[in-house]
Amino acid sequence: MLYNHNPTLTDVPKAIDESRQGETVYWEQVMPGPPSRKRFYIESYGCQMNFSDSEIVAAVLAEDGYAPTRILEESDLILINTCSIREKAEETVRKRLRLFDAVKRQRPGVLVGVLGCMAERLKKKFLEEEKLVDIVVGPDAYRDLPKLVANAEDGEKGINVFLSREETYADISPLRLDSNGVSAFISIMRGCDNMCSFCVVPFTRGRERSRDAFSIVAEATHLFEQGYREVTLLGQNVDSYKWQNPETGKVVSFAELLEMVALVHPHLRVRFTTSHPKDMTDEVLYTMARHDNICKYIHLPVQSGNSRILQLMNRTYDREWYLQRIEAIERILPDCAISSDIITGFCTETEEEHRDTLSIMERANYAMSYMFAYSERPGTLAAKKYRDDVPEEVKKRRLNEVIHLQNQISLRHNQADIGKTFEVLIEGDSKRSKDEFKGRNSQNKMLVFPKQPGLTPGDYVRVRVVAATTATLLGEIVS
Ligand code: SAH
Ligand code: SF4
Ligand code: F3S
Repeated sequence: MLYNHNPTLTDVPKAIDESRQGETVYWEQVMPGPPSRKRFYIESYGCQMNFSDSEIVAAVLAEDGYAPTRILEESDLILINTCSIREKAEETVRKRLRLFDAVKRQRPGVLVGVLGCMAERLKKKFLEEEKLVDIVVGPDAYRDLPKLVANAEDGEKGINVFLSREETYADISPLRLDSNGVSAFISIMRGCDNMCSFCVVPFTRGRERSRDAFSIVAEATHLFEQGYREVTLLGQNVDSYKWQNPETGKVVSFAELLEMVALVHPHLRVRFTTSHPKDMTDEVLYTMARHDNICKYIHLPVQSGNSRILQLMNRTYDREWYLQRIEAIERILPDCAISSDIITGFCTETEEEHRDTLSIMERANYAMSYMFAYSERPGTLAAKKYRDDVPEEVKKRRLNEVIHLQNQISLRHNQADIGKTFEVLIEGDSKRSKDEFKGRNSQNKMLVFPKQPGLTPGDYVRVRVVAATTATLLGEIVS
């Protein structure tokens, strides 16, 4: 039974958060089992944490006898793992729910469950507002899904939005749903203890907690044995990872965890996201420098280049501190690529302050950025304390300026790679052609190059860059 062809789902948006599009991937790993098993269909929106959580959910449901399907119309349980980060993300989810409604009317008995951040944010309101929703489950309550589904089958609406201080799902082996068989996510922590004033995440994901370091290493080892060659360690603020071994009392820092995972195998690439500028230590940078298999790429969101705005955002660093972190990266890891997240039109932002963002982008020389217009989120500090007073068209215009500049910087960054040779991990066929492979270099840049016989996804090849666009490097394999 294969799920990698499904013409009815061509309209399903993937990784819908406008910026965080993952690469198109296939459901290669399928659950064996009799066709009589009930099937669940799951769609994920938002950040990689959500995609990673969907694999936990899939594992919990598989244990309960459900098999995954990519075909919406043949599922018994439709799940949507939601994001609340911006208003638009929530609108997208509501649109999908309208579509599920239509499916449900054709096939009575089908259950619809809302998971993730929007479930946590809206709680009971979801059941009241969206009559078709049967189950509402927050990010820390996925172990409860089988019970909630069983209750819903008996006609009882189910909700669990309890936020835990301990849950890390450390013992659950994720069911890799959307896998290319080469790269996988590993959640190393959950929640966030920062209180960036614009951000809804601390409210939807709860307190920060770190996962057992040995369970992380075990998951990475298992993935390597299955043929995976790249893991991305996930957390909202990986630099504040801190796990105390209950037996020895020893505390494992992020730098130490990174080293432990890097030592799993020299052919296992290690990536991580997201780094917070206030917490990113030189120790992490030195650990990266010591291990070739820790990728030389850091996602270090700046949000704004202006110190007053950063203070209003409660980011707890200023422009100078951020630039000093950039200098540390350049000094310790000269070949490291840096990317960023940027918000335009935050409360009270002036033109001059906006220009500080443009100038910090130039200085940091970002390989790429995820860029957003500020979207006020109910319940956040900014919503309570500040007026969302930058007119929508000004936010959009500033966003366009930021995007335009980033395109120029990205192109320049990529053109500087022409003539260089990189080690590339083959991920699969390029989007354009079956005769070409695509894969990333250590700096997280996508390279596209003609195939050579005998190579398969998961292999490392050396590729020389011959041309560049804003988003891709074009190359050829060198022997
Ligand atoms: N933990 C990460 C960010 C997670 S959210 C960090 O601290 O960097 C991803 C990005 O969404 C943020 O970096 C920010 O740029 C953007 N974002 C968050 N809340 C937003 C809002 N209310 N409006 C617009 N963009 C927002
Ligand atoms: Fe949100 Fe800030 Fe936490 Fe990132 S660090 S998730 S932006 S509160
Ligand atoms: Fe969205 Fe929740 Fe991630 S709000 S960005 S899915 S943590």
